[in-house]
Amino acid sequence: MCVPERVLTNDDLAQLVDTSDGWIRARTGIERRHVAGPQETTSQMAVDAARKALQVADADPRDIDLIIMGTATPDHLFASAACLVQDALGATRAGAFDLNAGCSGFVYALAMGHQAIVSGEHKLVLVIGAETMTRVIDWQDRSTCVLFGDGAGAVLLRASDGPAGVLSTLLGSDGSGAELLMIPAGGSAMPASRETVEQGQHYLRMEGRQIFRFATRVIPQATRAVVRRAGLRVRDIDLIIPHQANLRIIVAAAKRLRVPLDRFAISLQEYGNTSAASVPIALCEAVDAGRIGPGDNIVMVGFGAGLTWAALALKWSVAPAEAVSPAYRVWWRWLLYRWAAIRRRLRQALRRLTMLLIRRADRHRPH
Ligand code: ACO
Repeated sequence: MCVPERVLTNDDLAQLVDTSDGWIRARTGIERRHVAGPQETTSQMAVDAARKALQVADADPRDIDLIIMGTATPDHLFASAACLVQDALGATRAGAFDLNAGCSGFVYALAMGHQAIVSGEHKLVLVIGAETMTRVIDWQDRSTCVLFGDGAGAVLLRASDGPAGVLSTLLGSDGSGAELLMIPAGGSAMPASRETVEQGQHYLRMEGRQIFRFATRVIPQATRAVVRRAGLRVRDIDLIIPHQANLRIIVAAAKRLRVPLDRFAISLQEYGNTSAASVPIALCEAVDAGRIGPGDNIVMVGFGAGLTWAALALKWSVAPAEAVSPAYRVWWRWLLYRWAAIRRRLRQALRRLTMLLIRRADRHRPH
């Protein structure tokens, strides 16, 4: 995982808008969030998170077959942020694409990565959730600006014959609720113009109460369904990793599922809602805290803009002792990343040179 260094506390926000630490904690559970600096982008955080995942898995970036990046805040409308990650990693054999399913993006991407492996087409798939939500927030709107933060998390899925891995997946959508959570302008329906900027139409708009009702219904439903598909019961699940939007949503879901709250991974106090990055960040923190061990049954469940929801049940297989790369492999990857940067410049220079030669040849060609 990767989060920006800069931290914004609730008290900091109270200097910007009419809010208070007490209100934000009581209504959301959020205490602070990490905010990208002006030079930090979604793809940079994704690259950092991906490099850590490669290190933990001791994998070579050139072996990656596919990169799927769940994000609603890519660096650009296109080219995809996944391609920028592919280039920075030197993942020269990988296909790469962004997947926009709002806050469900990472769980959607993980389900797609699983299917890519099950199909037999791919053996090593990098799945990332990364967002710079604070770039699409109206910092004068207290009902949304207190909720979001920035960050990225990444995992590697590897084909294996073992009994562990993804057990079941569930994807859902309901576009009739699209207007409840959207950025109205900047797409083909409302292209960017002076008016859209003046009216703040490039900022996230949300009907918070309706999303709240939707989330408290869909998390228990999706969790129960994916657990059933895996042939398990809810009480067999060791850890549920929900989208980190609001502590009250998680508490309500825990009550409906009749699962004690300590079986949920909760990291929103520190990071706020990082949209598609929230589930992988909570997963990384749970792994680091030793809350996940081999043989554990895990459920990840997300909901968000679209509307979308997604759940995935898996049996964890990685033992902590496996997660240590030998030093020479760390250096080798470091060299590969330096080479990837040189390779990018060489390829860009080669393209410019080729175009120069083509233009010269065109000028000298008789008409
Ligand atoms: N500080 C102080 N007061 C506030 C703030 C604030 N930051 N924000 C709103 N209020 C006020 C409102 O103006 C309102 O005042 P009023 O009663 O005088 O009109 C009052 O607090 C209550 O507002 P509600 O919107 O009813 O507050 P609620 O308890 O529903 O909490 C919240 C709002 C936190 C947004 C909640 O509805 C929520 O978490 N919703 C779900 C959000 C979510 O999950 N988003 C997922 C995004 S996923 C993706 O794809 C990006």
